[in-house]
Amino acid sequence: MIFELRIAPADVTDAGEILTVQRAAYLVEAQRYADPFLPPLTETLEEVRAVLAGPATVLTARFGHRLVGSVRAHVEDDTAHVGRLSVAPDQQGRGVGGRLLRAVEAACAGRVRRFALFTGADSEQNLRLYGRHGYRVVGHRPDPNGHRLALLEKAVADPARLDA
Ligand SMILES: CC(C)(COP(=O)(O)OP(=O)(O)OC[C@H]1O[C@@H](n2cnc3c(N)ncnc32)[C@H](O)[C@@H]1OP(=O)(O)O)[C@@H](O)C(=O)NCCC(=O)NCCS
Repeated sequence: MIFELRIAPADVTDAGEILTVQRAAYLVEAQRYADPFLPPLTETLEEVRAVLAGPATVLTARFGHRLVGSVRAHVEDDTAHVGRLSVAPDQQGRGVGGRLLRAVEAACAGRVRRFALFTGADSEQNLRLYGRHGYRVVGHRPDPNGHRLALLEKAVADPARLDA
């Protein structure tokens, strides 16, 4: 049976599946940076539950009942900080990540002037994906483990509604 991809706001009960997919997805980044303690890999179930219970926007992507991806964003002043974009390894390269990114942008668009995110400075596929979605590198900084991160931003196409 072929299922349509369904993107929806996450519920606290999704925490376990989100963490499972996140951990599987970020393993490739752990291998790239030879560091199994990257923040998305050390985040606990309780921490994910706390995010889901708070004000952040968290979206899940499902094929049928199966959770295959998620993303989150929190709004601070006029910026939506997007993070933890994760797609199950066997489902990557089918457009799920791109769909999640567009969906979280749409969910925050009326409240912000820009989207911001970061990724590993050596994660070329991620940088390409974000570049295709209109993000530009605006700087670099080290993460808590000392890895070099690229900071990317994208302006909201029509922020006029903020002033209305
Ligand atoms: C980054 C990540 C979320 C992207 O998810 P994804 O579902 O593979 O993303 P997409 O399919 O939308 O795009 C990725 C690639 O697939 C290609 N693609 C998109 N739609 C496609 C389709 N229908 N069929 C085949 N390929 C497709 C894209 O061209 C892109 O290729 P390229 O970047 O090599 O040029 C995923 O790889 C992941 O979970 N990575 C580990 C965690 C991580 O690094 N997260 C980001 C941290 S900032």
